[in-house]
Amino acid sequence: MSGVPDHASGAIAATSLATPSAHHALVRGEGPWPEESVEQAVAWEEGLITYVGPADGLGSIEPEWFEGCTIAPGFVDCHTHLPFAGWRADEFEARLSGVSYRDLHGRGGRDGANDDPSRQGGIYRSKRMLAAASDDEVLAFCRSLVQEMAEHGTTALELKTGYGLSVEAELRQARLARRLSEEAPQTCSVTLLACHAVPEGMERADWVGVVCDELIPAAARERLVDAVDVYVEDIAFSVDDLAEVARCSSDVGLPLRCHADQLGPSGAAEAAVALAARSADHLNHVSATGIAALGEAPATVAVLLPTSTLFLGSSPPDVRALLDAGAAVAIATDFNPGTSPVLSMPEAIATACSLYGLRPLEALAAATMNASAALGLAPARGTLSPGRPADLVVLDGDAFRLVPYRPGHNPVVRTFVDGERVGGR
Ligand code: NIG
Ligand code: FE
Repeated sequence: MSGVPDHASGAIAATSLATPSAHHALVRGEGPWPEESVEQAVAWEEGLITYVGPADGLGSIEPEWFEGCTIAPGFVDCHTHLPFAGWRADEFEARLSGVSYRDLHGRGGRDGANDDPSRQGGIYRSKRMLAAASDDEVLAFCRSLVQEMAEHGTTALELKTGYGLSVEAELRQARLARRLSEEAPQTCSVTLLACHAVPEGMERADWVGVVCDELIPAAARERLVDAVDVYVEDIAFSVDDLAEVARCSSDVGLPLRCHADQLGPSGAAEAAVALAARSADHLNHVSATGIAALGEAPATVAVLLPTSTLFLGSSPPDVRALLDAGAAVAIATDFNPGTSPVLSMPEAIATACSLYGLRPLEALAAATMNASAALGLAPARGTLSPGRPADLVVLDGDAFRLVPYRPGHNPVVRTFVDGERVGGR
């Protein structure tokens, strides 16, 4: 695959290696899917890969050998709701007794139907918990979670706002996200999700106006965020709101993302494609038109969040129809205290295979290269190829299929970001 380097700051070899091909920045429905090769090595120098090829082709360089293991690109968790400040396990228990996620949110927050803020759980509760925590407390809480993600093979991730819900509190959460990304061993990308819930006591349209006129320009001036997201749902924002946010995001050069068709169909997926969004995420209730639009979309990644589907007991999207239509699918954890308290990409991959019917090597591409595209980090991250950053994992098991086959098991033996060891056993 490459010339043999005469020196390397790091080199590993294993029984198997699986990676998407570096000839693409995105794998669409028809592939080509990653392939596995036996007895392969990766070497790197100053954080960049210098060699990927047969283990016996490294000349004088002696790689660290991982018998019975698989080398793969590091996982890219392209949809999380970190930073947040505390759990909502009692809401999980309430849902198991029949209370719905919508009920916990406060019934029809979009129209302000619940006017007693103290009774609003869900996103509003996480907002109150974030407001009550000091900056140091938030960072301490999140730091260990981000390290736990590194132990599970995540080498790049998204951080999002959405638990601020006022101009100042959203900017604070974005600043905390930036501080967390400076401390985190991984590469982080920050998304502004100010349109996550309508702030108590405000009309939806007024908040969208504030987000467009004040918040997005302020966040852009301070270079706090890398993208803007909108939660399109009957309890949150509309497709028209999405279009308005798209206009003001593009005015300041920020790409758009969208929580689309999670709890019910809204036409958000096709709207996201029409607005050239970088991703449409969730998609549990995506329509046939939405599937066709994502299949044709030049740049909109269909981000699948199977652990939130499992956790909410939602119906899965028709992922085979998405792939057959030609969509580029990604997998992420949706890590958040309400719908997916899961930070493990191996677990998200396992759930995607068992619940959504993805095949293991399709899931690998979805969790690496395509997820990297959703974060705007492709083609640099998400594949193993000379000249690219040395973001990689060593997984126990001599084929990638062992990852989805063993849900609940952490297969990660080593995690490297830019050639530095950041996790593993
Ligand atoms: O992606 N559904 C909207 N947002 C999150 C959940 C946020 C929360 O419940 O705190 C999601 O599932
Ligand atoms: Fe989400």
